[in-house]
Amino acid sequence: MKIAVLKETAEGERRVAATPETVRKFTALGGELAVERGAGEAASISDGDYEAAGARLGSRADALAGAEAVLAVQGPEAETLAGAAPGALVVAMLDPFRRRDRVDGYAAAGLEALAMEFMPRITRAQSMDVLSSQANLAGYKAVLDAAGEYGRALPMMMTAAGTIAAARVFVMGVGVAGLQAIATARRLGAIVSATDVRAATREQIESLGAKAVFVEEVKGIEGEGAGGYATEMSDEYKAAQAELVSRHIAKQDIVITTALIPGRPAPRLVSDAQLATMRPGSVVVDLAVEQGGNVEGAVSGAVVERHGVRIVGHRNVPSRLAADASALYARNLYNFLSAFWDAEAKRPVLPDEDEIARGVRLTRGGQVVNERLLG
Ligand code: NAI
Repeated sequence: MKIAVLKETAEGERRVAATPETVRKFTALGGELAVERGAGEAASISDGDYEAAGARLGSRADALAGAEAVLAVQGPEAETLAGAAPGALVVAMLDPFRRRDRVDGYAAAGLEALAMEFMPRITRAQSMDVLSSQANLAGYKAVLDAAGEYGRALPMMMTAAGTIAAARVFVMGVGVAGLQAIATARRLGAIVSATDVRAATREQIESLGAKAVFVEEVKGIEGEGAGGYATEMSDEYKAAQAELVSRHIAKQDIVITTALIPGRPAPRLVSDAQLATMRPGSVVVDLAVEQGGNVEGAVSGAVVERHGVRIVGHRNVPSRLAADASALYARNLYNFLSAFWDAEAKRPVLPDEDEIARGVRLTRGGQVVNERLLG
C-alpha cells in the first residue's frame, strides 16, 4: 500500500502527520511511504530524516500518485487530492460538523474519509485518540502562554528583598486539556482551583492538588457524562454557574478556559462584566476561542486587552508545540491503522461492524455513511 504524507497547507499549521519513527513502523508492516518534500520542516523534521527512515520524497503530485492512503493533520480539500487511487483512505482531522461541504467533496471524489476526531472514547482506542494527545499539549502550553503574558511570577518566592505571593490560577473545563493545565500550573507553584459541569472531575481536580469549585445548588452532569462529554446546560444551571464564577474570578490572577461541547459552539463562561472585576495585569487564556470562545471579548488568533486584563486567543495551540504534537499525532495514526492491518493484504481493513471503524468512517462508495452526520 502506498501511503502519502502531505505537507499541511492551512495557515499557521506546523504539524505533520508522520514522523521518521512512524515511517519506519509503517514500512516494517509493508507500507510504501511517499512524503511530500518539506512536510516536516515546520516540526523540525528534515526531508533527509524521512529518507533515512525509508520514505520516498517528492512533490505533492508524486506523493499522491496512486496513493491508497493519505495522511494529514488538517483535512485536505478533496480537489487537492487528485491522483490518489480510487477509494483511497483520507486519514486526518476533518472537522466534520463545520466542514460538511468538504465531507461531501470526499464522497463525490470516491474517497474513504476517516475523521480522527470521531475516534470513540473507549479503552481500546485510547492510543489512537488525537483529541486527547493534542489537548494534553494545548493544556500545558496554555499555562506557559499565560505565564509569558503575566507580569508577575507564578510560584511564591521568598527573597532577601521580600516575598512574592504565589499566583492564583483558575481552570474552567477539566477534560484532557484542563487536567494538564492544572498539573502544569501546580508544577510552576501556583495556587490552583478548577471547575467543570461533570461530577466525575471533582475527584480528578482534587487528586492533582487543586481546589474543586462547583455549582452546588443545581445538579450538573452525573459521572463522566455520555462518552466523557458535556452537553448544553439548563438556564438555571448557567445562572448558578455565572454567580459562582463572579464570586471566584475576582480573586484570580490567571484563568484558563477549555470548555467544549461536541458539535455545538463553546459555552460562554466569562462575561465582560466578570473580566472587569479582575485585577489589572491578570491573564485569561481561552483555549476554546476557535469554537466560539468561552470568554466574552476573546479574539481568535490575537492577544487583546480588556479592563487591563490580557485575553489570549491563540489559534491551533498544539501546533505551537509542533514537534511533540506531531510525534504524538503520528503515533495515534500509526496505532489506529496498524491495529486494523491485514498482514496478507498489507493494508488496513476496517470491518463494517467494528465500533472504531463505524465511529471514524465518514464516506465510502460515493456516500456519506457516518451516523453522526446523517442523524
Ligand atoms: P472537551 O474538550 O469536550 O471539553 C473540555 C471540558 O469542558 C470537559 O471536561 C467538559 O465537561 C467541560 N465543559 C463543557 N461545558 C462546560 C461548562 N458549561 N462549564 C464548565 N465546564 C464545561 O472534553 P475532553 O477533554 O475531550 O474530554 C472529556 C472527558 O472524556 C475526559 O475527561 C475523559 O473522562 C474522557 N476521555 C476518555 C477517553 C477514553 O476513554 N479513551 C479519552 C479521552 C477523554
